[in-house]
Order: sequence, then C-alpha cells, then structure tokens
Amino acid sequence: MTARVLVAGATGVIGRALVPLLSARGHHVTALVREPSGAAGLGLDGVVVADALDAEAVRAAVLSARPEVVVHQLTELRGPTAEGLERTARLRTEGTAHLIAAADATGARRMVAQSIAFATAPRGGPVLTEDAPLHLDAPDPGWALTARAITELEQRVLSAANLSGIVLRYGTLYGPGTLYHRGGAIRDAVARGRLPLPEPATGVTSFLHVEDAARAAVRAVEADTDGVFNVADDDPAEAAVWLPEYARLLGAPPPRTVPAPLAERLLGWLTGHQLTAMRGASNDRIRQTLDWKPSIPSWRTGLAAD
Ligand SMILES: NC(=O)c1ccc[n+]([C@@H]2O[C@H](COP(=O)([O-])OP(=O)(O)OC[C@H]3O[C@@H](n4cnc5c(N)ncnc54)[C@H](OP(=O)(O)O)[C@@H]3O)[C@@H](O)[C@H]2O)c1
Repeated sequence: MTARVLVAGATGVIGRALVPLLSARGHHVTALVREPSGAAGLGLDGVVVADALDAEAVRAAVLSARPEVVVHQLTELRGPTAEGLERTARLRTEGTAHLIAAADATGARRMVAQSIAFATAPRGGPVLTEDAPLHLDAPDPGWALTARAITELEQRVLSAANLSGIVLRYGTLYGPGTLYHRGGAIRDAVARGRLPLPEPATGVTSFLHVEDAARAAVRAVEADTDGVFNVADDDPAEAAVWLPEYARLLGAPPPRTVPAPLAERLLGWLTGHQLTAMRGASNDRIRQTLDWKPSIPSWRTGLAAD
C-alpha cells in the first residue's frame, strides 16, 4: 500500500538514498527542509520548509504536507564535534517532540525515526541486542548527552498517543557522504597511515552501508510493526580486524600501534572508544520481524567497493 510520506532530513546521507527508493515503490514523498535549494534534484513530489527546532514552523509545514507517515532522519553530525553532538541531541529531543506534535495534528498514522546502534554501554557482548542498556554513564559528556537524547527520542516515538512508532538504530554508516567514503575523514586518515591501532583493539564496530540503511527505512515505512530495531551488517568486527584490513584495501601501510590507554588522548574520546571498547549490534530482530537483511552483508566487500 502506498502512502503520503514526509521525510525530515531528506537532504542528508540517508535521506538522499531513501527518497528515490520510496518514490520507486509508489509513495508520495515530500521533504521537510531548512533550505529549499538543498532539495533540488531529489525527485520529490513536494517540499515544505521549516527548521526542525521551530515548533510552529514544523507544525505549519507538516499540516501543509498532510503525511500519513513521518520519517525522521535529522542529525547534525558532519565532523562529529561537541557542538554537533549538542545540536543533534536537540534535534533528537526537541525536534522529535515537534515532529510528533505536528504529525498528531495532521492525523498521520506512523512515525519512523533514526537512532544509533553503537551507544550501548560497553558491558557484556561483544555483540549486543536492542535490550542492552544505553551508555548513559559514559565518561565523555557529549556521548552521555547522546545516550540521553536517543533514550528520549525512542521513548517519545514509541509512546506517541496516536501514532505507531518504529525506531531504527543504525550501525556505523559507510557509503556516499560518510566518514568512510572518498574525502571522508576516517578514510583519509587510514589512507595516510594516520589512524593508529590501539593495542589491544577490541572495540567492535557493526558497519552499515547507507543504501541498506535506506532499505531498512522503506521496510519500516511499509510495515505496521512497532519497536526498536538494530540495523547493521552481518559482520561485526573488532578494530584489530577491520582497521588493518581497511588499510590494506586502500593500499595504505598497516596502521602503527599505540598502547590502548593513549588512544583516547591521540584520537579523541569517541574514536578511542570505538576502537577499544564499543560493542557490536545484533541484527537478528530486524531480520526476523521485518524480513530485512543487508544487501552488503560485510564491510569487507562494501568498504572495498566504496
Ligand atoms: N548517523 C550517525 O550515526 C553518525 C555518527 C557519527 C558520524 N556520522 C557521520 O556524519 C555524517 C552525516 O552527517 P549529518 O549528521 O550532518 O547527517 P546528514 O546526513 O547530513 O543529515 C542530516 C539531515 O538533517 C537535516 N537537518 C539538520 N538540522 C536540521 C534542522 N534544524 N532543521 C531541519 N533539518 C535539519 C539536514 O538538512 P540540511 O541539508 O539543511 O543540513 C540533513 O538533511 C556522515 O559522514 C556520517 O558518517 C554519522
């Protein structure tokens, strides 16, 4: 069944991949954007303009779009700085509240929202399910804020009175527009031998290609299931495995090693955490419940082709 779908964040990394997939399935797709020029060339059926942090503007935009399904892909993480994490936390808390209120006012029936699969507390594992606690007690203030913000986003989406809600917790994205694509900061650092390998490098990353993230969002739009779902590939990998392999794929020298306690100081808290402590994310639930599976099952082939 096709639907009127409003995509907030249509100009972003996932939004750009998602819009053509929704259109190809026959959905009527409207974008909510801050700047209309950003939506040019996306092949949309409609564009409405609002800053997601402006409740009145969001309400007016959503009322004019009259969506049945609202997709929330709002973040501001380019170059994940402390300010970017703060702005993204506001999009996940205030922005989500504004979208839900507006969706409710217009009589939408469903909300699909983006969250992250790698904000679980680094306990147990190495691969965790959706039931694992989030990293609310992270020692880094920006990451603790992120864990609180996605907790609020998920609670708001799942408890919205008149909407069925589904949350997609994406793994570490690679593909066009990401940190792992040509011109992306991590790819450049690995290619230049500037991303050292902590010893031991036991942090686990669950990668996800942007196209597979978008395919999961299409499934979520079309399903009637509620809940929280990890979306990640089938090959969670320790940094000790993926980082040297990534360097090899890029024709770069093997990464130099540094003692793990130095990683945070050299790389920043979040990258140090990714390489030394992060846990992977199981995709069992989305495979079983939404019949989604990654078209690129492993970062080994996906990163090589990127
Ligand atoms: N998603 C993750 O889990 C994650 C984590 C760490 C790093 N990264 C990296 O971050 C990059 C993606 O950056 P990004 O977070 O900036 O996402 P993005 O892919 O650019 O998407 C963000 C979307 O939200 C929109 N948006 C932001 N603030 C808004 C507001 N106040 N009102 C309305 N729309 C708003 C943006 O619109 P505009 O076009 O107007 O900006 C854009 O469409 C990738 O390189 C990825 O590798 C991602």
